[in-house]
Amino acid sequence: LTSERYGVQRLPFSHVSDSDLTFFEHLIPGRVITDPDELRPFNVDWLQSVRGCSKMLLRPRTAAEVSEILRYCNKRKLAVNPQGGNTGLVGGSVPVFDEIIISTALMNQVISFNSVSGILVCQAGCILENLNQYLEELDFIMPLDLGAKGSCHIGGNVATNAGGLRLLRYGSLRGTVLGLEVVLADGSILNCLASLRKDNTGYDLKQLFIGSEGTLGIITAVSILCPRKPKSVNLVFLGSPFYILIETSGSNSAHDEEKLNNFLEHVMASGLVTDGTVATEDKKIKMLWSLRERITEALTHDGCVYKYDLSLPVERLYDLVIDTRARLGKTAKNVVGYGHLGDGNLHLNITAESYSHSLLNAIEPFVYEWTAQYNGSISAEHGLGFKKKHYIQYSKPQEAVLLMQQVKAMLDPKGILNPYKTLPASS
Ligand code: FAD
Ligand code: MLT
Ligand code: ZN
Repeated sequence: LTSERYGVQRLPFSHVSDSDLTFFEHLIPGRVITDPDELRPFNVDWLQSVRGCSKMLLRPRTAAEVSEILRYCNKRKLAVNPQGGNTGLVGGSVPVFDEIIISTALMNQVISFNSVSGILVCQAGCILENLNQYLEELDFIMPLDLGAKGSCHIGGNVATNAGGLRLLRYGSLRGTVLGLEVVLADGSILNCLASLRKDNTGYDLKQLFIGSEGTLGIITAVSILCPRKPKSVNLVFLGSPFYILIETSGSNSAHDEEKLNNFLEHVMASGLVTDGTVATEDKKIKMLWSLRERITEALTHDGCVYKYDLSLPVERLYDLVIDTRARLGKTAKNVVGYGHLGDGNLHLNITAESYSHSLLNAIEPFVYEWTAQYNGSISAEHGLGFKKKHYIQYSKPQEAVLLMQQVKAMLDPKGILNPYKTLPASS
């Protein structure tokens, strides 16, 4: 029983009935999945740590279809779980109980690209890597990149406000996303799909949906500012007690190389770096990045993974790894720290042979308290989802949490959108 496994009670939502099935089959014929075998991968998260028991997956193609679906679900009080590529790491992308899964997988069309402004408008279900390939042919790139690029959807990226490997260079989605189209819980379509660099007319509503993890609306299209494909890229892989990857991207290779060489001479002479390699050709660059990008996957082969995603002052970044290692001793298999140094973002991962309550109790709330004492964030880039919603108060004051709950209640009064996620239930 889910309530026993997770200590959560199912809220009094309706159960999917035969007449609901008839309605959806009529609305999106052939795109209603109820076969238990087909549903299985959509019910379990990427880490295989959270499992729901949804009996229905819907695959709309347009915002109008999403609108009809939500209008109906809201009226019938049927809970829904928006899902993109299902690569989320906090259990937000899969149902907890029997929520209807609404997948954006078939909403995968580029709507427009302006090669003067670099503004791309596309549907939410476009896979990040496909968008990047599409843009590269036009001499542009996506402003974000992450290890899950082959599966994650741009809508999921926006819904989680994903950070990733290019954030230091091109900024966060809060800056590069120029507009969104969102379907609200009652089915109304909010068209804020502006393709403007500047727009100060009233409140910036799209920001509410960036990082809202499917709890305030379903993102159906995204307008995003894309940088030019850099003419010169250098990647350096350096080692001392730690390994670091630094990528430079610019427009003049001679100039970039000169600057990089000056930097390398400096760090080698200072003894900070003991070894390293430089890559300029695409194949070697990709190979080196894959070492970094596949850490997440590698850890899953080491056993059960307890995953933390923290923002900390850069000078404190690794102290938590050392303190956690000392605290857990032999009860953990490995305590690993990696992340995005330039962003002050530590990924603290603890592996063990199997899941244990006592190990979890030794980690939490220790990790959150440690982070809070340095005014860090307990969710730097992955979101709160199902796993971390009860720890929000370590990074946000009570007044902020209350306001978030009020916004949620206003936009989704029946609470049908991704229930049990992101925010603790309001008292
Ligand atoms: P899903 O996992 O399907 O969903 C994530 C959340 O968004 C859920 O709450 C879901 O309900 C909601 N959602 C999805 N689509 C929509 C929509 N259209 N409208 C409203 N809500 C929606 N994250 C980083 O920030 N940086 C990284 O470097 C990074 N690297 C990763 C590497 C790997 C190997 C993996 C597995 C994950 C990584 N992630 C990283 C986690 C990251 O959150 C996701 O990869 C990605 O942003 C989620 O996109 P998705 O389409 O898979 O969304
Ligand atoms: C990463 O930086 O590799 C991702 O955020 C995924 C992870 O934390 O493992
Ligand atoms: Zn990361």
